[in-house]
Amino acid sequence: MGLNKNSIPTKPQFYGRRKGHTLRPHRQHLMKELLPKLIVPSDTNTPTDTADLFDQASEVWMEIGFGAGEHLAAQAESHPEVGIIGCEPYINGVATLLSVIEKKSLKNIRIFNDDARLLLENLAADSIAKVFVLFSDPWPKKRHNRRRFINSETLNALARIMKDRAEFRFATDDMSYIRWALDAFYHHPDFKWQVAGPTDWRERYPDAAATRYETKALKQGKKCVYLKFQRVSRI
Ligand SMILES: C[S@@+](CC[C@H](N)C(=O)[O-])C[C@H]1O[C@@H](n2cnc3c(N)ncnc32)[C@H](O)[C@@H]1O
Repeated sequence: MGLNKNSIPTKPQFYGRRKGHTLRPHRQHLMKELLPKLIVPSDTNTPTDTADLFDQASEVWMEIGFGAGEHLAAQAESHPEVGIIGCEPYINGVATLLSVIEKKSLKNIRIFNDDARLLLENLAADSIAKVFVLFSDPWPKKRHNRRRFINSETLNALARIMKDRAEFRFATDDMSYIRWALDAFYHHPDFKWQVAGPTDWRERYPDAAATRYETKALKQGKKCVYLKFQRVSRI
């Protein structure tokens, strides 16, 4: 979060799209009826405690920029004991995920329908056990690089909310973003890169479903890279 010239906190600027084509009637209905039951409030004056979001969850995970939610829904289905918060400002993506939540009767997803950075500021410290940032907007033009989600500010915010030894997954098909992310994590004292062998970063995480962007990239013959970092222990 930035400060204006009077030192009053300002919302971070979000450069993506919030809305696409008009939603079909059933999706509009889900946005009206189901979303309010799953929504994580974006009122930045009230701190968000994960215990208030999930009745019973062995741990809480977070996916930032879930798009249409394929990966998030698959993780939620395979891990019903875990609570997962999905952050996505794009309404059409949220509506798609809601239709899957309804169809599969998933109970363990909550949705933050805004810029994840607002929630990172607001969430209780030491509360998240896994974070996924998958095929985040690469902003390939040099003058746009600073719009990338990964930077020292977001890593500070993530380090605060993540538990000791929590896992952070970052995948992309943009090689310049890989170098950028490795550099940001390398220079951050609270994260270390987890690499099991010379090639493990070339294969999708064994427990993960493909995302829409990843499928598109692979179809175009692009290579994808799958990195894992650990939030180092505070003691
Ligand atoms: C390139 S898409 C990838 C979507 C999905 N992860 C996939 O792989 O198919 C990036 C997504 O991140 C979302 N996004 C961008 N900045 C964000 C932010 N600050 N907080 C939450 N979501 C964000 C965008 O709205 C978009 O849906």
